[in-house]
Amino acid sequence: MAMKIFSERRSIRRYGDRPVEDEKLEAVLEAARQAPSWANMQCWTYVVIKDSAVKEAVAETLKGNPGQKAILAAPVLIVACADPEKSGTVNGQPYYMLDVGISMQQLMLEAWNQGLGTCWIGWIKEDEIRSILGVPENIRVVALTPLGYPAVLPESPGRKPMQEIVHREKWG
Ligand SMILES: Cc1cc2nc3c(=O)[nH]c(=O)nc-3n(C[C@H](O)[C@H](O)[C@H](O)COP(=O)(O)O)c2cc1C
Repeated sequence: MAMKIFSERRSIRRYGDRPVEDEKLEAVLEAARQAPSWANMQCWTYVVIKDSAVKEAVAETLKGNPGQKAILAAPVLIVACADPEKSGTVNGQPYYMLDVGISMQQLMLEAWNQGLGTCWIGWIKEDEIRSILGVPENIRVVALTPLGYPAVLPESPGRKPMQEIVHREKWG
């Protein structure tokens, strides 16, 4: 079951008009809430937006991004934020990005499970979005995703073959 979701989930950039039911929205947020995190500090906060004017303002900041139209078309926009103080750093690698990444991935997979599409949008103008949404200065805006019923299911862009990504016993 899970493998089907992993392999069939696609980034959805075209959406239908059908609204997202409240129970489904709550289910995807619950999936995000259940994610593991650094010392269980749960550094993430999500901003859920349905207001078209706010979605339009955010979309305006995404000129040139293939996800721009997706945000305008989808009935819901979810903005993933993080408080870096509520996570750690190891070998110079900031774990708040991973914490949010894992939580967002759970959200995206549950969305697919519910028949809904998402698209991770990471190429963003953080300060512009922070100002539109009133996100405090100490909180990072990490990613956005539209959420809605897919209008088109794209073909898989494919994945590298297993032998290219896995070394067994040692590198090489
Ligand atoms: C960290 C990250 C950042 C991404 N940023 C964007 C983005 O800014 N705009 C966009 O349209 N898609 C973005 N994507 C979606 C990828 O293009 C997509 O996941 C990839 O092409 C594989 O396609 P699939 O999700 O349908 O399997 C991003 C994905 C990830 C994981």
